[in-house]
Amino acid sequence: MTSSPLLPKTAPFSPEEIDLLNRVVSRTTPQQRSWLAGFFAGFEAAQGVAAQPAVAAKPRVPLTILYGSESGNCETLAAKAKKAAQKHGLDAKVYDMADADMALLAKAKNVVVYAATWGEGDPPARAADFYAALMSDAAPRLDGVRFAVLSLGDTAYAQFCAVGKAIDARLEALGGTRAADRVDLDLDFAKQAAAWTEGTLGKLAPVVDAAANGTVVHVDFSSSAQALDDDEPLFTADDPLEAEISELVNLNGSGSSRETWHVEFATDNLAFTYQPGDAIGLIPENDPALVDQLLSAVGLSSDASLLLKIQKGFDVTTLSRALVENYAKLTGRADVKKLLEGDAYTKFSFDRQLVDVFESYPEKLTADQLLGVLRPLPGRLYSVASSIKAHPGEAHLLVGGVRWASHGKARNGVASIYLAERRKVGQTARLYVKPNRHFRLPTDGNTPIIMIGAGTGVAPYRGFIEERIETGAKGKSWLFFGERNFTNDFLYQLEWQDHIAAGALTNIDVAFSRDQPEKIYVQSRLWERRGDVQKWLDDGAHLYVCGDEKGMAKDVDATLVKILAESLKGDDDAGRAKLKELTKAGRYQRDVY
Ligand SMILES: Cc1cc2nc3c(=O)[nH]c(=O)nc-3n(C[C@H](O)[C@H](O)[C@H](O)COP(=O)(O)OP(=O)(O)OC[C@H]3O[C@@H](n4cnc5c(N)ncnc54)[C@H](O)[C@@H]3O)c2cc1C
Ligand SMILES: Cc1cc2nc3c(=O)[nH]c(=O)nc-3n(C[C@H](O)[C@H](O)[C@H](O)COP(=O)(O)O)c2cc1C
Repeated sequence: MTSSPLLPKTAPFSPEEIDLLNRVVSRTTPQQRSWLAGFFAGFEAAQGVAAQPAVAAKPRVPLTILYGSESGNCETLAAKAKKAAQKHGLDAKVYDMADADMALLAKAKNVVVYAATWGEGDPPARAADFYAALMSDAAPRLDGVRFAVLSLGDTAYAQFCAVGKAIDARLEALGGTRAADRVDLDLDFAKQAAAWTEGTLGKLAPVVDAAANGTVVHVDFSSSAQALDDDEPLFTADDPLEAEISELVNLNGSGSSRETWHVEFATDNLAFTYQPGDAIGLIPENDPALVDQLLSAVGLSSDASLLLKIQKGFDVTTLSRALVENYAKLTGRADVKKLLEGDAYTKFSFDRQLVDVFESYPEKLTADQLLGVLRPLPGRLYSVASSIKAHPGEAHLLVGGVRWASHGKARNGVASIYLAERRKVGQTARLYVKPNRHFRLPTDGNTPIIMIGAGTGVAPYRGFIEERIETGAKGKSWLFFGERNFTNDFLYQLEWQDHIAAGALTNIDVAFSRDQPEKIYVQSRLWERRGDVQKWLDDGAHLYVCGDEKGMAKDVDATLVKILAESLKGDDDAGRAKLKELTKAGRYQRDVY
């Protein structure tokens, strides 16, 4: 098979130029390419210009890039680092911690780690084994290994970047040499991560021999095809798509204790695309009343343009430790400083929001001072609930409304209530695409799938079934769905019934926790149906779990362990080992939050 000579992303052109050139080059014949090469060489010779190499020849130095990622940010940073490494004369290989072990680490010369923190200071699920091995007494010495760690996290969490911090300390304790200082980055990490990667690779790069004759251009043909696959989505948090809301409806019945919004976005931008299993990021706007409250607290309430700026672009709810630290520094207030002592911050921040600090410890601030302590408003992710093949130009989301009361105030989730209360059909919102390579339908449409989800966790399965209908997939499918109440909370009930009638959905088992005196959850149904679940697994079924991590996914995980243990006639360890095997084979995938 002949392949097209596509230019790699490392070619010395802008991404747009590479795209343009590739469109032309991919259609050329070998004769045309020879002619072009001869033409340019002859042209430069006629101008008296010697051909310049794009990249000077350098000794190639091995680099191991390791990432621990749940929702793909570290994975993307690792892939970008691999591409950048080539320019630095580094021969980089990228490993998911899920596929790495201590032997790999021990024989590495240079290691760059991208590590995310999840749960409450935990490693991403797929990185848990690697992390445990690294922290264990059995971890090998790493003398002679040069390393650098970038941690991703969210300052909203008490254990900010705990995993990256722990890995960095452990690599040093095992004898490794820190090649660059660790950085701990918040949700707006893109620019700082790019700068850190560039600086770190520069430190790890081999020294160029000035005398070396630089006529060799290193072009990694083996990786160019993959580089194209790795393309970042066109719409990102920094460059979102403005899409129109074409439908916005609360799916819960009027007697429900829940509020779950089905939202349809539409665009005529043909470049907008996603795959089932991906998430769509929504950049919300703050409630102007809350921003006004905040501005009043700092004596800036008459500034309308500042209100608009903060409404659209700054986080006014997250009460992080970093915020309190910055506010203490800015105001010099001893009582704010005291909040950082002992467990005072934990006690104060529980169930409070940012505005409470400004109201409890009021100080007059200038606009610049205020903006200086606020962080950018982060987008919120939602599992896409549609197939773009079934709904061209559309993305459907299922958004649970977040409302609660604390310290005498009614509080609202920023994004969910922005949609529920401050957006109408016909208005627009800002979206981006967050690919999730670890929550994908099987490539073979004949493979059976078992989908487990509670509440909004059912969202991606609507997209899965639509996609399977569109692609003519023949494999069996089974949905386990849980919510509180049959009458009010059976999300997409009619659609599931239609899919069952049409044969697109083979089985559905539901668990409504509050319809009877004893609580029944999806894991209860899973256990009841374990005989058939096991038969489906024997037939090669892929298992999916989506939704709330603490409230559902942990219990489903434990139930799956028990089901597998029983069928193996073993104990929980045997069940756990089998579940790990399924995870490694890509047959157990989770999208939990
Ligand atoms: C990969 C991924 C996929 C997701 N998919 C979906 C999806 O399909 N559907 C969906 O609805 N959500 C989904 N989420 C969650 C979603 O991203 C948002 O976190 C959620 O909608 C809340 O956002 P918000 O802006 O409305 O609330 P925020 O303003 O972010 O407020 C939420 C915060 O408020 C606080 N809080 C909430 N309730 C209470 C309470 N009762 N008492 C005290 N404090 C409270 C908590 O600190 C909580 O973290 C997903 C998340 C991820 C990471
Ligand atoms: C459910 C959940 C729990 C999280 N827990 C933490 C945490 O304890 N500490 C932290 O610093 N960040 C936490 N984060 C933020 C992630 O680390 C952050 O989003 C990171 O960019 C994810 O990187 P990844 O996409 O590579 O997994 C959490 C995020 C989610 C959605």
